[in-house]
Amino acid sequence: MRQPGKNINIKVNNITVSYNDEGSDNAPVIIFIHGFPLNKSMWDNQLNALMDNYRVIAYDIRGHGNSELGTIDFSIDLFVKDLLRFMDALKIEKTIICGLSMGGYIALNAIENHPERFSALILSDTNCTADTYAGKEKRMNAIKSIKENGVEKLANDLIPNLFAAESFKRNLKEIPAVREMIAKTSTQSLYNSLHALAERKETCGKLSEIKAPVLIIVGTEDIITPIDAARFMQSKIKGSKLRIIEHAGHLSNLENPYDFNSQLNKFIATIKSI
Ligand code: MLT
Repeated sequence: MRQPGKNINIKVNNITVSYNDEGSDNAPVIIFIHGFPLNKSMWDNQLNALMDNYRVIAYDIRGHGNSELGTIDFSIDLFVKDLLRFMDALKIEKTIICGLSMGGYIALNAIENHPERFSALILSDTNCTADTYAGKEKRMNAIKSIKENGVEKLANDLIPNLFAAESFKRNLKEIPAVREMIAKTSTQSLYNSLHALAERKETCGKLSEIKAPVLIIVGTEDIITPIDAARFMQSKIKGSKLRIIEHAGHLSNLENPYDFNSQLNKFIATIKSI
Protein backbone atom coordinates (compact mmCIF):
# COMPACT_ATOMS: atom_id res chain seq x y z
CA MET A 1 0.00 0.00 0.00
CA ARG A 2 1.46 3.37 -1.05
CA GLN A 3 2.26 5.87 1.70
CA PRO A 4 2.40 9.37 0.18
CA GLY A 5 4.05 12.23 2.06
CA LYS A 6 7.41 13.55 3.15
CA ASN A 7 10.34 11.89 4.93
CA ILE A 8 8.94 8.40 4.64
CA ASN A 9 11.27 5.57 5.60
CA ILE A 10 11.67 2.29 3.77
CA LYS A 11 14.16 -0.57 4.16
CA VAL A 12 16.26 -1.04 1.01
CA ASN A 13 19.46 -3.15 0.70
CA ASN A 14 19.80 -3.31 4.52
CA ILE A 15 19.58 0.44 5.08
CA THR A 16 16.70 2.82 5.80
CA VAL A 17 16.09 5.13 2.87
CA SER A 18 14.19 8.38 3.38
CA TYR A 19 12.01 9.72 0.56
CA ASN A 20 9.28 12.16 -0.39
CA ASP A 21 6.42 10.78 -2.46
CA GLU A 22 3.78 13.23 -3.74
CA GLY A 23 1.06 13.33 -6.39
CA SER A 24 -1.67 10.88 -7.22
CA ASP A 25 -1.47 7.08 -7.15
CA ASN A 26 -2.05 6.33 -10.81
CA ALA A 27 -0.13 9.19 -12.40
CA PRO A 28 3.13 8.54 -14.30
CA VAL A 29 6.08 8.31 -11.89
CA ILE A 30 9.16 10.56 -11.91
CA ILE A 31 12.05 9.75 -9.54
CA PHE A 32 14.55 12.53 -8.79
CA ILE A 33 18.15 11.85 -7.70
CA HIS A 34 20.14 14.61 -6.02
CA GLY A 35 23.78 15.69 -6.43
CA PHE A 36 26.76 15.45 -4.08
CA PRO A 37 26.76 16.24 -1.16
CA LEU A 38 23.15 17.35 -1.11
CA ASN A 39 19.85 15.63 -0.40
CA LYS A 40 16.29 15.15 -1.63
CA SER A 41 15.20 18.60 -0.45
CA MET A 42 16.99 20.11 -3.45
CA TRP A 43 14.02 18.87 -5.52
CA ASP A 44 11.26 20.44 -3.37
CA ASN A 45 10.42 23.04 -5.99
CA GLN A 46 10.16 20.43 -8.78
CA LEU A 47 7.96 18.15 -6.65
CA ASN A 48 5.62 21.04 -5.86
CA ALA A 49 5.47 22.12 -9.49
CA LEU A 50 4.80 18.64 -10.93
CA MET A 51 2.74 16.88 -8.26
CA ASP A 52 -0.62 17.90 -9.76
CA ASN A 53 0.05 15.85 -12.88
CA TYR A 54 2.60 13.21 -11.85
CA ARG A 55 3.61 10.99 -8.96
CA VAL A 56 6.90 12.59 -7.98
CA ILE A 57 9.46 10.94 -5.73
CA ALA A 58 12.78 12.27 -4.41
CA TYR A 59 14.93 10.08 -2.17
CA ASP A 60 18.10 10.52 -0.15
CA ILE A 61 21.02 8.54 -1.57
CA ARG A 62 22.60 6.36 1.14
CA GLY A 63 24.60 8.45 3.62
CA HIS A 64 22.87 11.68 2.53
CA GLY A 65 19.96 13.54 4.10
CA ASN A 66 18.06 11.12 6.33
CA SER A 67 19.12 7.86 4.65
CA GLU A 68 21.42 5.51 6.52
CA LEU A 69 25.04 5.01 5.55
CA GLY A 70 25.19 1.23 5.84
CA THR A 71 28.40 -0.70 6.18
CA ILE A 72 29.55 -1.32 2.61
CA ASP A 73 31.88 0.84 0.50
CA PHE A 74 30.04 3.31 -1.72
CA SER A 75 30.12 3.06 -5.50
CA ILE A 76 27.89 4.31 -8.31
CA ASP A 77 27.04 0.63 -8.95
CA LEU A 78 25.86 0.31 -5.33
CA PHE A 79 23.77 3.49 -5.70
CA VAL A 80 22.19 1.97 -8.83
CA LYS A 81 21.37 -1.24 -6.91
CA ASP A 82 19.82 0.90 -4.16
CA LEU A 83 17.71 2.72 -6.76
CA LEU A 84 16.45 -0.52 -8.32
CA ARG A 85 15.67 -2.11 -4.94
CA PHE A 86 13.98 1.15 -3.88
CA MET A 87 11.76 0.94 -7.00
CA ASP A 88 11.04 -2.72 -6.22
CA ALA A 89 10.10 -1.87 -2.63
CA LEU A 90 7.68 0.80 -3.90
CA LYS A 91 6.41 -1.63 -6.59
CA ILE A 92 7.44 0.74 -9.38
CA GLU A 93 8.25 -1.32 -12.43
CA LYS A 94 9.12 1.56 -14.74
CA THR A 95 9.75 5.25 -14.15
CA ILE A 96 10.94 8.49 -15.66
CA ILE A 97 14.27 9.26 -14.00
CA CYS A 98 15.83 12.68 -13.42
CA GLY A 99 19.31 13.04 -11.96
CA LEU A 100 21.49 16.07 -11.35
CA SER A 101 25.26 15.68 -11.44
CA MET A 102 26.04 12.66 -9.18
CA GLY A 103 22.33 11.85 -9.55
CA GLY A 104 22.93 11.93 -13.31
CA TYR A 105 25.88 9.52 -13.01
CA ILE A 106 23.51 7.12 -11.21
CA ALA A 107 20.65 7.64 -13.66
CA LEU A 108 22.90 7.10 -16.71
CA ASN A 109 24.49 3.97 -15.29
CA ALA A 110 21.01 2.69 -14.35
CA ILE A 111 19.37 3.24 -17.75
CA GLU A 112 22.35 1.85 -19.67
CA ASN A 113 22.36 -1.37 -17.67
CA HIS A 114 18.64 -1.74 -16.90
CA PRO A 115 16.83 -0.03 -19.80
CA GLU A 116 13.61 -1.96 -19.16
CA ARG A 117 13.07 -0.08 -15.88
CA PHE A 118 13.09 3.46 -17.31
CA SER A 119 10.65 5.14 -19.69
CA ALA A 120 12.57 8.43 -20.07
CA LEU A 121 15.69 10.13 -18.76
CA ILE A 122 16.43 13.70 -17.69
CA LEU A 123 20.12 14.41 -17.26
CA SER A 124 20.80 17.68 -15.52
CA ASP A 125 24.23 19.29 -15.14
CA THR A 126 26.09 16.02 -15.39
CA ASN A 127 28.46 14.16 -17.67
CA CYS A 128 29.34 10.66 -18.82
CA THR A 129 33.11 10.70 -18.33
CA ALA A 130 35.12 9.15 -15.50
CA ASP A 131 37.35 11.34 -13.34
CA THR A 132 40.73 12.27 -14.80
CA TYR A 133 43.83 11.57 -12.74
CA ALA A 134 43.77 15.22 -11.61
CA GLY A 135 40.07 14.92 -10.75
CA LYS A 136 40.73 11.87 -8.55
CA GLU A 137 43.57 13.68 -6.85
CA LYS A 138 41.27 16.62 -6.11
CA ARG A 139 38.80 14.26 -4.41
CA MET A 140 41.56 12.74 -2.25
CA ASN A 141 42.69 16.26 -1.31
CA ALA A 142 39.10 17.09 -0.39
CA ILE A 143 39.06 14.09 1.99
CA LYS A 144 42.32 15.28 3.54
CA SER A 145 40.96 18.80 3.90
CA ILE A 146 37.73 17.60 5.58
CA LYS A 147 39.85 15.62 8.08
CA GLU A 148 42.02 18.67 8.79
CA ASN A 149 39.60 21.57 8.45
CA GLY A 150 36.08 20.16 8.79
CA VAL A 151 32.97 20.28 6.65
CA GLU A 152 32.49 24.04 6.78
CA LYS A 153 35.65 24.49 4.74
CA LEU A 154 34.32 21.96 2.21
CA ALA A 155 31.12 24.00 1.91
CA ASN A 156 33.15 27.19 1.43
CA ASP A 157 35.20 25.48 -1.29
CA LEU A 158 32.23 23.93 -3.11
CA ILE A 159 29.63 26.70 -3.06
CA PRO A 160 31.38 29.20 -5.40
CA ASN A 161 31.51 26.44 -8.06
CA LEU A 162 27.96 25.20 -7.58
CA PHE A 163 26.21 28.48 -8.34
CA ALA A 164 26.44 31.03 -11.17
CA ALA A 165 28.00 34.34 -10.11
CA GLU A 166 24.66 36.14 -10.40
CA SER A 167 22.95 33.59 -8.13
CA PHE A 168 24.83 35.07 -5.19
CA LYS A 169 22.64 38.16 -5.68
CA ARG A 170 19.42 36.46 -6.83
CA ASN A 171 19.18 33.16 -4.93
CA LEU A 172 19.44 34.35 -1.37
CA LYS A 173 17.49 31.42 0.10
CA GLU A 174 19.08 28.64 -1.94
CA ILE A 175 22.71 29.29 -1.00
CA PRO A 176 22.24 28.86 2.78
CA ALA A 177 19.96 25.89 2.08
CA VAL A 178 22.75 24.19 0.10
CA ARG A 179 25.26 25.05 2.82
CA GLU A 180 22.97 23.35 5.33
CA MET A 181 22.61 20.24 3.14
CA ILE A 182 26.41 19.95 2.92
CA ALA A 183 26.82 20.49 6.68
CA LYS A 184 24.22 17.81 7.38
CA THR A 185 26.15 15.13 5.49
CA SER A 186 28.31 13.04 7.83
CA THR A 187 32.07 13.07 7.29
CA GLN A 188 32.04 9.28 6.75
CA SER A 189 29.48 9.69 3.98
CA LEU A 190 31.56 12.47 2.41
CA TYR A 191 34.67 10.24 2.39
CA ASN A 192 32.73 7.28 1.00
CA SER A 193 31.05 9.37 -1.70
CA LEU A 194 34.28 11.07 -2.76
CA HIS A 195 35.83 7.62 -3.23
CA ALA A 196 32.78 6.46 -5.21
CA LEU A 197 32.94 9.53 -7.45
CA ALA A 198 36.67 9.11 -8.01
CA GLU A 199 36.31 5.43 -8.90
CA ARG A 200 33.22 5.69 -11.11
CA LYS A 201 33.38 4.23 -14.61
CA GLU A 202 32.61 6.21 -17.74
CA THR A 203 29.15 5.81 -19.23
CA CYS A 204 29.86 7.54 -22.59
CA GLY A 205 30.48 4.28 -24.48
CA LYS A 206 26.89 3.10 -24.17
CA LEU A 207 25.11 6.42 -24.77
CA SER A 208 24.23 5.44 -28.35
CA GLU A 209 22.35 2.37 -27.01
CA ILE A 210 19.85 4.48 -25.06
CA LYS A 211 16.48 4.19 -26.76
CA ALA A 212 14.30 6.05 -24.24
CA PRO A 213 13.50 9.74 -24.76
CA VAL A 214 16.23 11.90 -23.18
CA LEU A 215 16.31 15.54 -22.12
CA ILE A 216 19.67 17.06 -21.24
CA ILE A 217 19.65 20.25 -19.17
CA VAL A 218 22.61 22.44 -18.26
CA GLY A 219 23.06 25.86 -16.69
CA THR A 220 24.84 28.41 -18.90
CA GLU A 221 27.46 28.96 -16.22
CA ASP A 222 27.94 25.38 -15.05
CA ILE A 223 31.69 25.10 -14.51
CA ILE A 224 31.63 21.60 -12.95
CA THR A 225 29.85 19.85 -15.84
CA PRO A 226 29.90 22.52 -18.57
CA ILE A 227 27.78 22.96 -21.68
CA ASP A 228 30.34 21.08 -23.81
CA ALA A 229 29.81 17.93 -21.70
CA ALA A 230 26.06 18.25 -22.28
CA ARG A 231 26.55 18.82 -26.03
CA PHE A 232 28.77 15.74 -26.22
CA MET A 233 26.12 13.54 -24.59
CA GLN A 234 23.46 14.99 -26.87
CA SER A 235 25.57 14.19 -29.94
CA LYS A 236 25.72 10.52 -28.86
CA ILE A 237 22.11 9.94 -27.74
CA LYS A 238 19.90 9.74 -30.80
CA GLY A 239 16.89 12.07 -30.64
CA SER A 240 17.91 13.62 -27.33
CA LYS A 241 17.08 17.24 -26.63
CA LEU A 242 19.40 19.79 -25.06
CA ARG A 243 18.05 22.76 -23.12
CA ILE A 244 20.37 25.41 -21.73
CA ILE A 245 19.12 27.23 -18.65
CA GLU A 246 19.98 30.92 -18.36
CA HIS A 247 20.87 32.54 -15.04
CA ALA A 248 22.14 29.23 -13.67
CA GLY A 249 25.33 27.37 -12.89
CA HIS A 250 25.63 23.73 -11.75
CA LEU A 251 22.45 23.70 -9.65
CA SER A 252 20.14 24.82 -12.45
CA ASN A 253 16.98 23.41 -10.84
CA LEU A 254 17.54 25.57 -7.75
CA GLU A 255 18.89 28.65 -9.49
CA ASN A 256 16.25 28.98 -12.20
CA PRO A 257 13.38 26.66 -11.19
CA TYR A 258 10.91 28.46 -13.44
CA ASP A 259 12.77 27.61 -16.67
CA PHE A 260 13.91 24.23 -15.37
CA ASN A 261 10.35 23.17 -14.52
CA SER A 262 8.99 24.53 -17.77
CA GLN A 263 11.54 22.41 -19.72
CA LEU A 264 10.68 19.35 -17.62
CA ASN A 265 6.96 19.83 -18.21
CA LYS A 266 7.36 20.32 -21.97
CA PHE A 267 9.59 17.26 -22.29
CA ILE A 268 7.41 14.95 -20.22
CA ALA A 269 4.36 15.99 -22.20
CA THR A 270 6.06 14.66 -25.36
CA ILE A 271 6.76 11.17 -23.97
CA LYS A 272 4.47 8.70 -25.67
CA SER A 273 4.59 5.66 -23.39
CA ILE A 274 4.90 6.34 -19.69
C1 MLT B 1 27.59 16.87 -7.83
O1 MLT B 1 27.03 17.99 -7.91
O2 MLT B 1 26.96 15.84 -7.67
C2 MLT B 1 29.09 16.83 -7.92
O3 MLT B 1 29.57 18.06 -8.35
C3 MLT B 1 29.54 15.73 -8.82
C4 MLT B 1 31.01 15.65 -8.97
O4 MLT B 1 31.75 16.24 -8.17
O5 MLT B 1 31.47 14.97 -9.90
